[in-house]
Amino acid sequence: MLSLPSDWQPHAPLEHLHLDWLTQANIQVAVLRLDLIDPLISGNKWFKLIEHLAAADQVGAKGIISLGGAHSNHLHALAAAGKRFGFPTVGLLRGHPQETPTVLDLQAFGMQLHWLGYGGYRARHEPGFWLPWQAKYPQLQPVSEGGGGLRGARGCAGLLKMARDQLSAVGWNDYNGWWLAAGTGTTLAGLVLAEAGAHPVYGALAVPDDNGVAQQVEAIFQEAGLRDPAYELFDASRGGFAKVDPALLAFMEMTEKHSGIALEPLYTGKALLALKQQVDAGRFAPDTRLIFVHTGGLQGRRGFAVMGKD
Ligand SMILES: Cc1ncc(COP(=O)(O)O)c(C=O)c1O
Repeated sequence: MLSLPSDWQPHAPLEHLHLDWLTQANIQVAVLRLDLIDPLISGNKWFKLIEHLAAADQVGAKGIISLGGAHSNHLHALAAAGKRFGFPTVGLLRGHPQETPTVLDLQAFGMQLHWLGYGGYRARHEPGFWLPWQAKYPQLQPVSEGGGGLRGARGCAGLLKMARDQLSAVGWNDYNGWWLAAGTGTTLAGLVLAEAGAHPVYGALAVPDDNGVAQQVEAIFQEAGLRDPAYELFDASRGGFAKVDPALLAFMEMTEKHSGIALEPLYTGKALLALKQQVDAGRFAPDTRLIFVHTGGLQGRRGFAVMGKD
């Protein structure tokens, strides 16, 4: 059985974000702190896993096998969930064996690791990729990279209620949209589905434009039967996925100093900086209220020299 304890209901607080550039433009931002839901199973990753775990349970699977890189937040959350809730996990990793802080955690959480090399990992979308793994681990349910697809998106739809239930706590009766980082676009797609056009969702792309995020989210909307999805994507990749530059690091340091909220450079740091660029360019009218989703991932920043202390 892969069922989860019903008393584990992760909760993310909604908090005002006070920063000079927002105040000057008269834009209000409240942050949905998914980074605070749990010390180990953090961020949007948990929500992307919920429906995959339920589907695995339904077909009688005993555990999960999935894919990721050596800093993967997805594998980290999955391995931590496996350890916490007592189900086996297997991780198929990109590249050759290395011991990043994330990999050491995966091992400590009891995840069985296999390194696929780069070519082997590139084959992950080919038909038949899963066959040998399913033969080796017949009791485990395969979950695609990052826990994506319609199932992943549906798990994120619950974020809407979580934020709405807390609007009065930040003194709001409504808001004008969402802003969040997009890697595969699954979390964004979940919010777009849940909103069903009521409020737009703005995605800051952590990967370059040609990575097919728009196509992936459109495929989710099509599968879900959603017409006229209300969303917009902005380039926030700053020259490539995982490319980190001094201006980004300086922005993150300033933000952390003034707000007390830690960011990581790959997703949340780039997403907030992209929001600043849009705010500075006058993209949002004064009095606009946005919910910024802090998608977690702080464990991954141990692999980067962020602010000289990681
Ligand atoms: C910290 C963090 N934020 C945002 C994302 C992007 O989420 P999605 O793939 O659902 O767009 C990811 C993963 O890809 C992530 O690890």
